[in-house]
Amino acid sequence: MRIGVPNEAAEGGTLVAATPATVKKLIGLGYEVAVQTRAGVPAAFPDTAYTDAGAHIVGDDVWTSDIVLALDAPRGDRITAMAPGSTLITRMAPGRSPELIDLLAERNITGLAVDAVPRISRAQSMDVLSSMANIAGYRAVVEAASRFGRLFTGQITAAGQMPPATVYVIGAGVAGLAAIGTANSMGAIVKATDLRPETAEQVESMGAEFVAIPAATEKSADGYAKEMTEDQARAAAKLYAEQSTQADIVITTANIPGRTAPILLTAADVAAMKPGSVIVDMAAANGGNCELTRPGEIHTTDGGVHIIGYTDLASRLPGQSSQLYGQNLVNLLALTTPGKDGQLTLDLEDEIVRSITVTQARPEPVGPADVLWPPPPVTVSAAPVTAPTPEPEPVDEQALAAEASRKRTLQRLWMSAAGILGAALVLASPLAVAQDYMVLLLAVVVGFYVITAVTHSLHTPLMSETNAVSGIVLVGAILQVGSSNIAVTILAFLAIVVASINIFGGFAVTHRMLAMFRTEA
Ligand code: NAI
Repeated sequence: MRIGVPNEAAEGGTLVAATPATVKKLIGLGYEVAVQTRAGVPAAFPDTAYTDAGAHIVGDDVWTSDIVLALDAPRGDRITAMAPGSTLITRMAPGRSPELIDLLAERNITGLAVDAVPRISRAQSMDVLSSMANIAGYRAVVEAASRFGRLFTGQITAAGQMPPATVYVIGAGVAGLAAIGTANSMGAIVKATDLRPETAEQVESMGAEFVAIPAATEKSADGYAKEMTEDQARAAAKLYAEQSTQADIVITTANIPGRTAPILLTAADVAAMKPGSVIVDMAAANGGNCELTRPGEIHTTDGGVHIIGYTDLASRLPGQSSQLYGQNLVNLLALTTPGKDGQLTLDLEDEIVRSITVTQARPEPVGPADVLWPPPPVTVSAAPVTAPTPEPEPVDEQALAAEASRKRTLQRLWMSAAGILGAALVLASPLAVAQDYMVLLLAVVVGFYVITAVTHSLHTPLMSETNAVSGIVLVGAILQVGSSNIAVTILAFLAIVVASINIFGGFAVTHRMLAMFRTEA
């Protein structure tokens, strides 16, 4: 079969549905590939790169291919130009496109909506929405940084101190997590909120602080949020207003499938933000999460807040987006070409194939195509099993308070005993070493408080610190090991052993961690 890749730049697009790298893979699946002239130019893939990869360069007859790979639903005349019995694979927003479905059916064309891939683990490699949202999340931070008048990372220079920027992300789905990771890597302090409490762990693992909505929300069964109750909405609105006044950059990604985007930031919230702050409203295409967003534009309020409403963030990185989109399509075609013989086979028993098949062509000359939209709901394997909630054990508040007080008293006793012992040691020592003991005791106290206050994400640099300290201990102990005093020799020997364990153990752990990132040659 021949796959056609049309030039969508004429419709204002910058992406292309196949890159030279993915063309090679399509040919590997047994297909012939025809790319419309200059289709990849906006994404920096010239025609020669496609011919080198094994594709033919064609003109408008790209539409007569057996399978057409596109980014978005083509114009009606393009679909009419397609051969009956052929297949169109593209994003279709099928829930909102009844006319498109009717036209495909009337023309007896099989329509596969790649934006209807279910959110299940097996389908992740074909999920174009996630691929595009990931890139868009990255680009949202880049756009915000280019509008923001200060640095993201904090610095102390001879000319003065520069505080780090604070970024607040609302909605920690694919786009939100990508934005968190990017902002964090640029040195900003990042906070995030999501309706789904299960995202807290993901947010924290990306190096951000999770700010929970102070009203219970439920775990999601399908990876998407459900609409909030009135209580939750009130608590969330208050939280968003508070956090956005503190933040320099707010990135909103809140989305509930099948609905217009919820308004999370009102005009009053924006008015309370600092001048020079930036809002990137990623949900602009779907109505926007901010009341003042103008889709497709940057709007600066009288209070000096920039609101970025771009709806084409992924298209602003055309090379990368095309590569990911093209690879998603290759993965889909690998699933639907089991014989690698260039023959598309739709197995409607497969839940991925069934979910995306909007229309299925009948064998010619019989038509029209069968309309298979909407598909039956997919059982999400990752959905949490709702186990019967056990009755909570009655909490004995008094017993808890007594236990906490006992622990506090014990801690105080230990601290006092250590303090008395330390003081006795200093008093009983000759004046020459008393000063050293004082320094040691103070170092223990300061070290205890510093180390216990270090967040988990900084434990790796902390390990390097302890390695450095062990190095100093080792040098000191080597100097002392030859002492005439047997007690000093024994202590120095023990110090050498313990410090060496820390140093060589540190190297071993680092080696193991690096091995995790190494790929086989
Ligand atoms: P997603 O569904 O993976 O993530 C949305 C997140 O928002 C979910 O985690 C959900 O729990 C959360 N959420 C929903 N309502 C909320 C609320 N009221 N408060 C807090 N969190 C809430 O969606 P994905 O793929 O991350 O996309 C996010 C948005 O970005 C979508 O609106 C999508 O259309 C848009 N997008 C925009 C692009 C652009 O160029 N502007 C490009 C790609 C995606």
